[in-house]
Amino acid sequence: MNYQEQYDAYLARAKRALEDACRRYLPAESQVCQAARYSLMGGGKRVRAVLVLSVCDMLGGDDAAAEQFAAAVEMLHCYSLIHDDLPCMDDDDLRRGRPSCHKAFGEATALLAGDVLLTEAFEAVAQAPASPEVCIQANRALGAGAGSRGMVYGQELDLKYEVLDTTESQLLQIHRNKTGALINAAVQMGAAAAGADAAQREALEQYAFGLGLVFQIIDDILDATATTEQLGKPAGSDQANGKTTFVTLYGADGAMTLAQQVNQDTCEAVHTAFGEKAAFLEQLAAAMLERRS
Ligand code: IPE
Ligand code: IPE
Ligand code: MG
Ligand code: MG
Ligand code: MG
Repeated sequence: MNYQEQYDAYLARAKRALEDACRRYLPAESQVCQAARYSLMGGGKRVRAVLVLSVCDMLGGDDAAAEQFAAAVEMLHCYSLIHDDLPCMDDDDLRRGRPSCHKAFGEATALLAGDVLLTEAFEAVAQAPASPEVCIQANRALGAGAGSRGMVYGQELDLKYEVLDTTESQLLQIHRNKTGALINAAVQMGAAAAGADAAQREALEQYAFGLGLVFQIIDDILDATATTEQLGKPAGSDQANGKTTFVTLYGADGAMTLAQQVNQDTCEAVHTAFGEKAAFLEQLAAAMLERRS
């Protein structure tokens, strides 16, 4: 299988796991859960789910547990997007090519849809078909990536620096928390499903934060250079909100050069740690540089 076929195979498994999660955790009679389903099933690249599945695969782990972890991290990610789009945050009306959750369902329902996805993500991990030890490890990874030492803290810093000058090291800290931490959670959940040892988890953490940084730099470049149609979310949102990004610091070309350097280091490190088995993770990192949405 080439890279794209492999990605699509992981994507198909992720979609099935998400459909299953909808049935189990988002009852259709609830309006809030309907809003959650609307956002969760409305597309997206599913990079975090693919990371869970591919890391588990690389380490020879258990598919069924990884599938449920993959659904959980996408639920958590989706909650972060719903809240990120709210008028009190980035105030964006379009997501994944459709009206944002609050545009389609109203602010209060969107707020609660985010809440339910956040909550049920942990339920899904706890109920995964794996040993209690594996589920606890995955839940800790998800909590660490999502909360006060991860995504939420990154969003706090992102808002704080809307009105302050930002240095490169502060921007690195924002990106590491708001994006890198949840990508690391995905990778570590895949590692948990495979019973990875400490050295493997550490090598994967380096990969995840490198990938996360590249991912957010490219997101920032696309915000400034792509069209709303290509992105499925409003282009120019960062500028409208006065965000400092790698584009405002170094321009789109300078930001791309930095992303390429980080990507090269990231790929070399994961190759050193896992050899030929890391081929998919390396290709995925390279594909992030080329993405247009
Ligand atoms: C968008 O994430 C938010 C960031 C952290 C940059 P994605 O680019 O993964 O969004 P989807 O899931 O594909 O829609
Ligand atoms: C958001 O970063 C990261 C999250 C935690 C959701 P952005 O605000 O740049 O994400 P987009 O561009 O709206 O997807
Ligand atoms: Mg934001
Ligand atoms: Mg945003
Ligand atoms: Mg963005």
